[in-house]
Amino acid sequence: MQPRHFISLLDLSSRELRDLIHRAIELKNNRDPDFQPLKGKVLAMVFEKSSTRTRISFEAGMVQFGGSAIFLSPRDTQLGRGEPVEDSAKVISSMVDCIMLRTHAHEMVTTFAKHSRVPVINGLTDLLHPCQLLADMQTYFEHRGDIQGKTVTWIGDGNNMCHSYINAARQFDFKLNIACPVDYRPLQSIVDPAADRVAFFNSPEQAARNADLIVTDVWASMGQEDEQKKREFAFRDFQVTTQVMQAAHPDALFMHCLPAHRGEEVAAAVIDGPQSVVFPEAENRLHAQKALLEFLICR
Ligand code: CP
Ligand code: NVA
Repeated sequence: MQPRHFISLLDLSSRELRDLIHRAIELKNNRDPDFQPLKGKVLAMVFEKSSTRTRISFEAGMVQFGGSAIFLSPRDTQLGRGEPVEDSAKVISSMVDCIMLRTHAHEMVTTFAKHSRVPVINGLTDLLHPCQLLADMQTYFEHRGDIQGKTVTWIGDGNNMCHSYINAARQFDFKLNIACPVDYRPLQSIVDPAADRVAFFNSPEQAARNADLIVTDVWASMGQEDEQKKREFAFRDFQVTTQVMQAAHPDALFMHCLPAHRGEEVAAAVIDGPQSVVFPEAENRLHAQKALLEFLICR
């Protein structure tokens, strides 16, 4: 049987994604230490970039399900010394039950998946961050119910998180308003298939009007550290402030995948304020990914 992969939200059907979110909520609310569906199973985790939430949530999730996880830094494996991705995928997937990768190039994950005998999970690439969206959707469902038909506003960089929000708008059927500087728009190839759900705005306040959820992310992602100053200038009018939140629906939520920079993409009063759900959102990485691991490995 061909393994299922989770490289993009588009790899699962809308129905499967919704079922996964409900399963994540169920697992969170009925924690049973004797439920160990991944007993003896091993997850390999390849990290080219730093991580707090992704690493800990995957590792803790595997252990809670009776399995284990191996942390692999390319610096310590032959991947970092030029062993072909194809060979690495064949070897690693012959020994473990699932592989999660966090890489710069998206193609590395797609190539790895092509040569893997076991499910491959995208733990963030320069293009997409689908695992974060599982947690974000779970968090919205828990706090406000179904997100179908709602309005979500993305403010800031058209980056990997923004791309995954565009895919989520298709899969979960919500409207996505995007406010970003013209030079930092998301890729047209990701926007086009979602064109009926996505609208662009020049001002964060306009984009936030009547929104049910406001989301942002860092101005300089991992790998863009050299552009920090240039980006601070380009994004200076794209901060989520209390005024932006006031333009939204009164019970709008605020989310951020974290880590965050208070005073840059978000004001401290917003991220530490009553509408912010960033910490339940971070915790849900654990629950959502346990549901994902169960879905992919226990088929
Ligand atoms: N949100 C997120 O992916 O966090 P980490 O970089 O800490 O894994
Ligand atoms: N856009 C950010 C997300 C970090 C979780 C980055 O890629 O660094």
